[in-house]
Amino acid sequence: MSDLQQLSKYQTRINSYLSNVLDNLSVNDPKLLEAMRYGLLIGGKRMRPYLAYITGEAIGADLNDIDGIAAALECIHAYSLLHDDLPAMDDDDLRRGKPTCHKAFDEATAILAGDSLQTLAFDILANHSFSQSAQPNHINLIKKLSKASGYQGMCGGQALDLAATNKQIPLAELELLHSLKTGALLEAAVNMAADCTPSITTEEKKQLSQFAQLVGLAYQVRDDIIDITSSDEELGKPAGSDVAANKSTYPALLGLQGAQQKADNLYQQALQALSTLPYNTRSLSEFATFIIKRTS
Ligand code: IPE
Ligand code: IPE
Ligand code: MG
Ligand code: MG
Ligand code: MG
Repeated sequence: MSDLQQLSKYQTRINSYLSNVLDNLSVNDPKLLEAMRYGLLIGGKRMRPYLAYITGEAIGADLNDIDGIAAALECIHAYSLLHDDLPAMDDDDLRRGKPTCHKAFDEATAILAGDSLQTLAFDILANHSFSQSAQPNHINLIKKLSKASGYQGMCGGQALDLAATNKQIPLAELELLHSLKTGALLEAAVNMAADCTPSITTEEKKQLSQFAQLVGLAYQVRDDIIDITSSDEELGKPAGSDVAANKSTYPALLGLQGAQQKADNLYQQALQALSTLPYNTRSLSEFATFIIKRTS
């Protein structure tokens, strides 16, 4: 199966899983449910679920186990975008080719929909029935997701991002910021999927985690590049938003060429981390290629 067929197969899988989850929620306020649906189901590349599925596939995990992990990760990601676009943060009007949630609804509803998607992530994970053969420790998975989402992960990175706006920061700080705000969830996708295969060794998990850290960082470096090089139509979000807001980004610190060089270096190191693994890691290396080439 070609790379893209594989991507659309898993996009369809996660979309129908998430849609089914929302269809079965009993939410008292119809507007809140509509906003949750808007934030979670309208568009999105589903990269975090995809990474969890292809990691699971590479190491022989049961994909029904990965469903719970992938759905939880995408709920956290969707919530992070609803809040990221708010006037108090990036103040953007366009997301996934549509008005941002606070424009389509209102700010309070976008905040509450984000909050609800965040708790839904943990609900999905805590209630997922994992297969007998894998039996990943529920508490460990929840610990990984909370660490990757909260002050030690995505939220911590978002706070550094805001603190670094309108000023120059050293490269090492920018790297930490990117690794937290975007890298942490991508890393969690790989690490949580790896927990679904009891036979995997500690050393193999370490290499996979290393791969995920590098690719996670590259993901945000590329996001900063395409903010400059792609159009609103391609991105489905406002191009030039980082420059307009005077954000600390790789292109701002190193120039476009320097930023692409950084992405290429991370890519090479990510492939290196994969090369030591005794699995068929073709999908994972293709994922890394896709990340550093993507234009949307
Ligand atoms: C955008 O994420 C924000 C970042 C963390 C870089 P994606 O590029 O994964 O956005 P969607 O989910 O495909 O819309
Ligand atoms: C977003 O970074 C990271 C999140 C945790 C949401 P950006 O602010 O660069 O994401 P976009 O460009 O708005 O998608
Ligand atoms: Mg932001
Ligand atoms: Mg933003
Ligand atoms: Mg961006």
